[in-house]
Amino acid sequence: MDRFLGQSHAIGLTDMHFIPYKRYLLADNFLRASGGGFDTQLLARLCDYASGCAIVQFGSAFAREDYIKLATAIAHLISKPSIQGPGGSYYGISKIVDDDNPTLKLLYPYANFSLHADGVFEDNPVDWLMMMQLREQHVTGGKSRLLHMADWDAYDVFHDDPANQVIRHGLLEKDGRYDVFRKFTSLEPSRARILHKRDGMNTVKFVDQYVIPETIAQARFIERFQASVESSPQVYETALPVGSMIILNNNFWMHGRSAFEQHPHLEREQLRQYGCFTEEQLQGISQHG
Ligand SMILES: [Fe+2]
Repeated sequence: MDRFLGQSHAIGLTDMHFIPYKRYLLADNFLRASGGGFDTQLLARLCDYASGCAIVQFGSAFAREDYIKLATAIAHLISKPSIQGPGGSYYGISKIVDDDNPTLKLLYPYANFSLHADGVFEDNPVDWLMMMQLREQHVTGGKSRLLHMADWDAYDVFHDDPANQVIRHGLLEKDGRYDVFRKFTSLEPSRARILHKRDGMNTVKFVDQYVIPETIAQARFIERFQASVESSPQVYETALPVGSMIILNNNFWMHGRSAFEQHPHLEREQLRQYGCFTEEQLQGISQHG
């Protein structure tokens, strides 16, 4: 960390926001500071269906800006992150406080945030996602909830259900959230099965807020599917301390968050990034077995 931060001292938040090549300089600095090989190991881990997950802990002693540098470096070692911040940035930061009526469901602290996979729209595919804890105060609860589709016993039953049809993922017309999303997507809905077997993997595409059923049968299927994953004993919960990041393969991991305990001064800031693997990366992985 000290080597990386020392080498990256001259690159500030403003540089990272406005000058794309500086982000790759951070990635290079991290690679050099870590002795090389981190990028290929991480990529292999993320693409490995038997794992597809990495938790990296850097410790809580560093500044918020340093964590953003780290997250930027590592994201650019994986692949170019997609735009997702409301200001058109390549990362987003969500801030959770004691608020009973936030603008987005993600920001509501006092209920479980249900299991889902990221990526909704046609032009917004997501192979990998990163969440990094930047800062927190008065936090109890709020753990990461994770479920690998190979661990979910009922996958085949739901996959083979006649109601597991191609379904629309997007927003209903005139949804108030259009203004948030149109900054990084054309908003064209995607059409896909919630559960789909591909290349030997049990994949999933699901966010309850953004699946648009057109029949009662589809709605009932979604209800049963959601109840089953949420109650699966294979859901893994882990606290993500400040200075830690989790990176997941979004094709076969679902993620969510447990409820926070109520506190008037609750505060948590989490950075999020996501993106797609490139063809070259996937070929490189398969060539190396
Ligand atoms: Fe998410």
